[in-house]
This record gives sequence, C-alpha cells and structure tokens, in this order.
Amino acid sequence: MSGLQQFESIEEVADVLAPGEPVYCLRPAALARHVRRFVALFPGTVLYAVKCNPHPWVLDALSAAGIKHFDTASLSEIALIAARYPGATCYFMHPVKSRAAIRAAYAHHGVRHYVVDHPDELAKLLAETPGRDLTVVVRLKTPPAANTVYDLSSKFGCDVETAVALLRDVEAAGCRGGIAFHVGSQCGSPASFTTALGLVGEVMMRAPVPAVIDVGGGFPAAYAGAGVPPLEDFMRAIEQGLERLGLPGATQVLAEPGRALVADACSLLVQVHLRKDDALYLNDGVFGSLAEMALSSLRMPVRLVRRGAATARESRAFKLYGPTCDSLDVLPGTFDLPADAREGDWLEIGQLGAYSNALATRFNGFFPETCVVVDS
Ligand SMILES: Cc1ncc(COP(=O)(O)O)c(C=O)c1O
Repeated sequence: MSGLQQFESIEEVADVLAPGEPVYCLRPAALARHVRRFVALFPGTVLYAVKCNPHPWVLDALSAAGIKHFDTASLSEIALIAARYPGATCYFMHPVKSRAAIRAAYAHHGVRHYVVDHPDELAKLLAETPGRDLTVVVRLKTPPAANTVYDLSSKFGCDVETAVALLRDVEAAGCRGGIAFHVGSQCGSPASFTTALGLVGEVMMRAPVPAVIDVGGGFPAAYAGAGVPPLEDFMRAIEQGLERLGLPGATQVLAEPGRALVADACSLLVQVHLRKDDALYLNDGVFGSLAEMALSSLRMPVRLVRRGAATARESRAFKLYGPTCDSLDVLPGTFDLPADAREGDWLEIGQLGAYSNALATRFNGFFPETCVVVDS
C-alpha cells in the first residue's frame, strides 16, 4: 500500500532490513477489521479522531475502509484532511480554539461543526463566523469512572446548567445545536455511556431539541490483559441510552473513536543497543513512540525477535530504557524476556497504533519515522 515496503512477517522485516532504527509495522488487515466492525455496530456516523494516529498510511487505510468524517482538533489536522480527501467532512471538536483557527476553518475549509463548553467560546465562535449555518455542539462533563485510563472531563466539558444555557444561546443565534461528551479514553465500562446519555437526557428536558448527539470516543482497545468488555456491550448501552432519549428521526448521531480503530493496526520493532545486567537500552522510548507506556497504566505486549540463533528458554525480568540522555526515558515495571537477551536483538512491541507516532518528539535527535506494511 502507498509505496511502503511490504513484508509477510516481523521476522522478514528483521531479516531484510536488519533495522538499527525503530520501524512501525503497519497492519492493514487489523485496521480494516476494526473499522468494519465499528461502522457495522454504531447506530450513526463514525468520525475518526485524527489526533490518535495522523500517519498518512493510517488515514488512507481508514478512508479506503469507508471513513469520510473526521474529528479534527486543530487547523493543521483540518488542512491535512482537506488536502488529502477533498470530499471529507471535518468537525472542529476541540473545545478551545484560537480565533484565527476558527476563521480559517470556516472560510478556507468549509468547517461547519464546532464544539464549545463555555459561553466565551460560543461568543468567540459567533464573532468569528457569519453564524447561522453553524452546528454548535455543547460538550458535557461526565463523572470520572474508575476503569477509564484517561479522564478528559477534568479539563473539558460543562455541567448540565451551563449546557442548557449554551443550547438556548445557540438556538437564539440561529444555529443548529448538539450535545457531545467524551467518557474518557480507554473506557472499560459500557455503563459510562449510559450515565453520560442520562445527563444528555437531563439537558434535553430544559433545552431546545438538539440536532446532533455525539457520544465521543473512549471505546477501548483490547490490550493484552486489559479484560475490557466487547464493543457490542458499549454499542448496546449506547443504543439503549439513545432510545430512552426519544430523539426525533432526523437527529444526527456521531461517534469519534480513535484508539479502538487503530491500536491493533501497528506494532513497533525496536533494537537492543546495549545490555547492562538486567537493563536493555533500546532505540525508542518514552519521548518517542512509547510515551503511553509511561504516561498510563497501559502495558503493550513485548516479545524478543532474534534471527539466525535460538534464544534461551528461561526468562528474566528486564528494565527497558529508551535512547535519550536522561533518566526519565525508562518504561515502568519490568518485562519478561529470554534471559540471554543481548545487543542486536529486536523487540516487537504490539498494539502500538494509537497515540504512539502521534506523541513522538524529536528530543535528542531521535525520531522514529520508518514504516513498513506487515500483512500476516
Ligand atoms: C474530543 C475527542 N474526541 C475523540 C477522542 C478519541 O478518543 P479515543 O482515542 O479514546 O477513542 C479524543 C481523545 O482525546 C478527544 O479528545
């Protein structure tokens, strides 16, 4: 696909490239499978959250799989999507936007859907656009849930009172109104969607009828050991929650998944550049593709790849260090790997399609950018 080298397996990548740099191994079959399943189950329009993985190959694969609507957080994401997919629709879903970004999104890219969670943001939006042809979606705060990895409502979203007032102002300004929420990323509980849709119901009792209900992202990836319920359970909770709202038939229902679509679409092949006792020094780390393994409790699967020789049967717990010249570049905990792991071996770190390359910095001059397709 799209000019990238193709391989049948990770082992073949190691044999042919013997890479000294980290390699993103993209997996079209996994991506297409997740997109097809989500689109088939969700009772509305699926927007892909570009921030999760904006790699052109990922975007092309999503587009080929039928995604035509995109949740964009910034003007540069909007410009990327507009240039690559002229017929696609971008939704500006960041609750805090610069005036210049609003003006450019509206005038140059035809963006008509915007999120707000504060009266001043609505005033900004109405001042910077002609107004009337907008859909303004009000983002609600949701209660923190124990089994959600990132709570987003500590930063964004408004309470029911504010949402009612905002929706009345949106109607008074002649715009279409909507209600959105985000239950938090890697949410392990379908009940979080039930609760959030219950709050939407509270708003709807006192506000003008919304034209849009946006259930956000947060759908979990099935990370090894995470034990999350199947996607079907989340969709059932959403369908039941929507049914209770008694929405008019014309209501547009949206979701903005990121992680659930792309987490399994990529693994990373890193090389061991030095072993010191029980510590392995790798060519990628927490300032590169592995930030989430340090920022969150998420544990991606790690396996050793050695070519041309067997590995020890017994295993040992290793500390994994990244390449930058500081002591922060280390993964939490230890990883069980063959006891004879050594310089020149590779590690495949799985399920790294979400928030990996998207978070990578250029700190110390290390920047993972090699991509191949592995179609196994
Ligand atoms: C507004 C918004 N929508 C969607 C997403 C995607 O969330 P997830 O990757 O958990 O599905 C995010 C993630 O931060 C977000 O902020």
